[in-house]
Amino acid sequence: MGKPVPIRAVETGQVSFVPYMASEQDVLDVLRGIKDPESQTDIVALGLVRDLTIRGGDVSFTLAFGAQPAQTKVLIHSMANKLVGGLPGVSRVNAKMGGAAAPHAHGGGGHAHAQAAPPAGAPPQRPADMIPEVKQTIAVSSGKGGVGKSTVAVNLALALHGTGASVGLIDADVYGPDLPLMLGTKGRPGMFDNRIIPVEAHGLRVMSMGLLVADKQPLVWRGPMIHTFIQQMLRDVLWGPLDYLVFDMPPGTGDAQLSLSQVIPLSGVVMVTTPQDVALLDVRRAIAMFQQLNVPMLGVVENMSYFVAPDTGTRYTIFGEGGGQKVADEYGVPLLGQLPLDPDTRKGGDEGTPIMVRRPDSAQAAAFREIARRVIERLGATATLRPLPTIS
Ligand SMILES: Nc1ncnc2c1ncn2[C@@H]1O[C@H](COP(=O)(O)OP(=O)(O)OP(=O)(O)O)[C@@H](O)[C@H]1O
Ligand SMILES: [Mg+2]
Repeated sequence: MGKPVPIRAVETGQVSFVPYMASEQDVLDVLRGIKDPESQTDIVALGLVRDLTIRGGDVSFTLAFGAQPAQTKVLIHSMANKLVGGLPGVSRVNAKMGGAAAPHAHGGGGHAHAQAAPPAGAPPQRPADMIPEVKQTIAVSSGKGGVGKSTVAVNLALALHGTGASVGLIDADVYGPDLPLMLGTKGRPGMFDNRIIPVEAHGLRVMSMGLLVADKQPLVWRGPMIHTFIQQMLRDVLWGPLDYLVFDMPPGTGDAQLSLSQVIPLSGVVMVTTPQDVALLDVRRAIAMFQQLNVPMLGVVENMSYFVAPDTGTRYTIFGEGGGQKVADEYGVPLLGQLPLDPDTRKGGDEGTPIMVRRPDSAQAAAFREIARRVIERLGATATLRPLPTIS
């Protein structure tokens, strides 16, 4: 790497300083330090670096990935950000993840044609191409954050596993991947045959962005990156045969929901809500979006429905009452279950032993088993192969 000149002094009688701006050469030099682990060739020589522009302290470029596994893409992206961000004169790095470079286009330039990431409207791959061995795909979603999606996704997956099924769990909450903590998983996923091996946790096969990046690394995602991530989580992960693949979604009606429902025909969505009216406003919006996308609504889970005081047995409806049933009735879908606020459920999430594992004999675990039973029943009643929605 050529040594960057730190600060250029310009003699004008007095000494003044011109702020140093990184050159194209500086950026490419530092990026040459990153090797694709597979080919052991640096990413500039591979032609991965495109559309490099430098405006003052702002550096932007696209990493036009080809068939690299998701883990490699994420690592290269984060290294590129870090190394370029560390150059003198660089205050902001915008490294976009693009798609499909000509896989082995050697040559040093970095000025090849622009390669945009797959737009949301790109022709979706059929599930048969991506996850041919997965029978059913279930998204756990919500209108609002913090209502218990991850808790429901994890325990529903465990309850499904308890029926003897093989179950995978994807943390599609790219903004706040909580599953590694909730499941107590440690270490990084392995690789086999250029694909990522999911981590095993309590009998589930699990993948999460949280397993691929350092704990405190902020995760900033743009729409097309989420689309690519979701495709990678399906295509580049060696899931093997699964009866159910459960997705823990980020809250709301954003890119992850749109991408997922476009990339695979989801078997159905479980919508999680708390009982109060403000949560219901958001959940209506979320249900309407999935209906528009032609994704079957398996039903509503009302979480944090009530609290039973352990000393007196008095039942308190802290967040109001009846909201889940109301919204389920409005949309003609079943209320799959009501889960009380339960300190053991919260502890289970914080300590990596979900309630289904921690207290399988508890009323809460029984409630999750009942939800799983109803989900299976609903899946049986909904056709799994439907045409993919198109989003304009
Ligand atoms: N029924 C419950 N009883 C007690 N605590 C619960 C219950 N459901 C969820 N929690 C706790 O509430 C917090 C939020 O739950 P969780 O992380 O599952 O929500 P989320 O909808 O996935 O949130 P986010 O939108 O941030 O991803 C967690 O600490 C979890 O342990
Ligand atoms: Mg969550």
